[in-house]
Amino acid sequence: MSPIDHEVLTRPSPTDADETRGRRAPWSLLRLRQSQAMRDLVAETTFSVANLIQPLFVVDGMTGSEAIAGLGDNARLGAGAVHDVVSRDLDAGVRHFLLFPVPSAKAPRDFDHVARAVEAIKKPFKDRATLWVDICLCSCTEHGHCAHFDGDGRIDLPRTLGSLATMARTAAEAGADGVSPSDMMDGRTAAIRASLDAAGHDRVPVMSYSTKFASQFYGPFRGAADSAPQYGDRKHYQLDVRSRRDAIASSLRCAEEGADLLMVKPGMTSIDLIQPIAEATGKGVGAYQVSGEYASLLALSQQGLLSNLDAAILETWHVFRRAGAAYVITYAARHARRIGL
Ligand code: PBG
Repeated sequence: MSPIDHEVLTRPSPTDADETRGRRAPWSLLRLRQSQAMRDLVAETTFSVANLIQPLFVVDGMTGSEAIAGLGDNARLGAGAVHDVVSRDLDAGVRHFLLFPVPSAKAPRDFDHVARAVEAIKKPFKDRATLWVDICLCSCTEHGHCAHFDGDGRIDLPRTLGSLATMARTAAEAGADGVSPSDMMDGRTAAIRASLDAAGHDRVPVMSYSTKFASQFYGPFRGAADSAPQYGDRKHYQLDVRSRRDAIASSLRCAEEGADLLMVKPGMTSIDLIQPIAEATGKGVGAYQVSGEYASLLALSQQGLLSNLDAAILETWHVFRRAGAAYVITYAARHARRIGL
């Protein structure tokens, strides 16, 4: 800022001076914004790579890797490729990963592909990598929905909960550090907690996708996880964006069922819900910056409409933090250092 600008901005105009004479009104909000040191002194949010979680897509039986449309350097990875990626991410400071295990064919008889994907990461990297595993059926079912259906086409809840509980137990047995149910079925957190406890995995936390909306912003993900619904949509189990009470109740219920961590998703369109959920539950609430949200930032940048992509990403992360997010799941976690954390 030039000295002249500074003068203009910080000295009251004659009329203001008349108005405020003798009252010394604290009218300038610019004094503490004038230098990086001043701004850093009073900044209310801080952030570190320790608060970030990097998603990973591991495809059973695949060799090499395949690009994912719209998601930059996030790719579908075979077991060998995931080793290289995680090794580099750890060197870049990432400590938490969220694994999406993709089976080689639909309707697998068991969840062995989940165990193989977990082992591909945990066997070599052990405690250096904290691994959360997404628990959902949509990559496994022929129809791409997050549940099994009965003969009348209605959600078969007992069978669905049974599968989710088995998948979570399989992940824990293979060495997962935490599980993350993303299906939105009634009772999944309780069913998973009970199944983990019964198998002796009482130390494994559940990070529930507790407030998850039916959203247009999951597009790039569904290509990556091969999980697009073949008919209909997910509105009969995911939340309606218009329904704030339901959105909060959904997280409250997950907390009551034993979730250790809660989440809002998509993150950027749900920031208003983070604080109320944290206050109502006393739990840490994270934000998932979903595939379509991240892809939109990359697309803006590719069109030359963002002068600084890294600064834009950092801006969104700080907004999550300002809104009260305990952690952020983001496809750019591996670039945290470059971005400025
Ligand atoms: C699986 C699941 C989805 C995402 C995470 N877990 C897709 C969906 O519900 O359709 C989306 C994540 C993203 O878009 O980055 N149920």
